[in-house]
Amino acid sequence: MRPRLAVRRLTMTNFRNYGSARVTVDERPVLLTGANGAGKTNLLEALSFLAPGRGLRGASLAEVARRGGPPGTWSVAATLNGAGGPVEVGTGIASAGDEPARRRAVRIDGTDAASQADLAHYATINWLTPEMDRLFDSGASGRRRFLDRLVGGFDRDHAARVGRYERAMRERNRILKGSGPRGDAAWLGALETAMAETGVAVAAARRSLVGRLGAYCREAMGGFPAAALAVEGAVEEMLGEMPALAAEEGVRERLATLRSADAEAGRATFGVHRSDLACTHIARDSPASLCSTGEQKALLIRIVLAGAALHADDSGSAPILLLDEVGAHLDRDRRAALFDAVLALDSQAWITGTEPEAFAALGDRAQRFAVADGALAPVA
Ligand SMILES: Nc1ncnc2c1ncn2[C@@H]1O[C@H](COP(=O)(O)OP(=O)(O)OP(=O)(O)O)[C@@H](O)[C@H]1O
Ligand SMILES: [Mg+2]
Repeated sequence: MRPRLAVRRLTMTNFRNYGSARVTVDERPVLLTGANGAGKTNLLEALSFLAPGRGLRGASLAEVARRGGPPGTWSVAATLNGAGGPVEVGTGIASAGDEPARRRAVRIDGTDAASQADLAHYATINWLTPEMDRLFDSGASGRRRFLDRLVGGFDRDHAARVGRYERAMRERNRILKGSGPRGDAAWLGALETAMAETGVAVAAARRSLVGRLGAYCREAMGGFPAAALAVEGAVEEMLGEMPALAAEEGVRERLATLRSADAEAGRATFGVHRSDLACTHIARDSPASLCSTGEQKALLIRIVLAGAALHADDSGSAPILLLDEVGAHLDRDRRAALFDAVLALDSQAWITGTEPEAFAALGDRAQRFAVADGALAPVA
């Protein structure tokens, strides 16, 4: 069996309420307890920056720099144990004079990476936060990001492809806004070709993962209900009806036809940036959006556990799971079931809570840290 994916050392510098903090951990799940405002979620957010994207709060690069610290500078560094052995991963921003940093720098084993998308090759990290409790009854963009993050754990190029798609789309929007549908036709055509190619690849990866994930969460598990999943989107639908090359051609044609409408709307009205993840509570025969808050949370946990199990079966190691206050709305049995599932997965889960007693059942199968005022102390 391959070594478990795990953080072994984490350093945060000028990150949120951490001036300079360092923690060394083993492969077991990590329990973080502390008062409100201690820095528990901040620490999970720091870990979430070891994967591509904007982290678990979707924050801007400037926002996470410590208030009162050197302006516009922060970093998170970690030693990760993964399939390829230990690797040093670092990320952050350094302000260049007065210019705010526009992109997050990434270093892997001391070498600058071309893009933060490279992080996907080293760490797969999924998370559940209290904000996600409303994932099923808020806008599609949150569900899409959730889905794309899951896909990115399986298809290492997914994040980069989504990035290329969005850049091409933004550039097309810009041209359409500036000069309307008659803007530089050749350049618009090239951008639409890029959107078609990357968009169809994105849609295909989503369909493939949702199909496999659906098979994993068709059964209930320890109080977490069975869920049926589907990805809903015009491009994903096309892929159900025709081969990828034909779908690419179809998307390109559609985008070309929509230039006037999109110029008027000020955005692209068609494409994979509008897709959605649909989820049904099988036992209730109800869309997730109509389920109770607790039921929605349980469904979400079911999906995350299914994703982790699928990942473990695929790659030999479960992802790192960041479970922020996950016990808060769970009754005692469900909390125990969640801990059992995490232990069965062999995942290095980082779990926060305000009350240490909530974690008593985990005994020495987990390691404990007390968080206070941006500092960490091991708890015996
Ligand atoms: N950029 C920043 N610079 C300095 N402090 C910050 C920054 N951003 C957030 N904070 C502070 O970090 C503190 C801890 O936040 P965090 O969300 O991690 O707490 P927590 O331990 O998760 O608390 P809770 O139990 O309430 O969820 C807050 O007091 C917040 O004001
Ligand atoms: Mg918190």
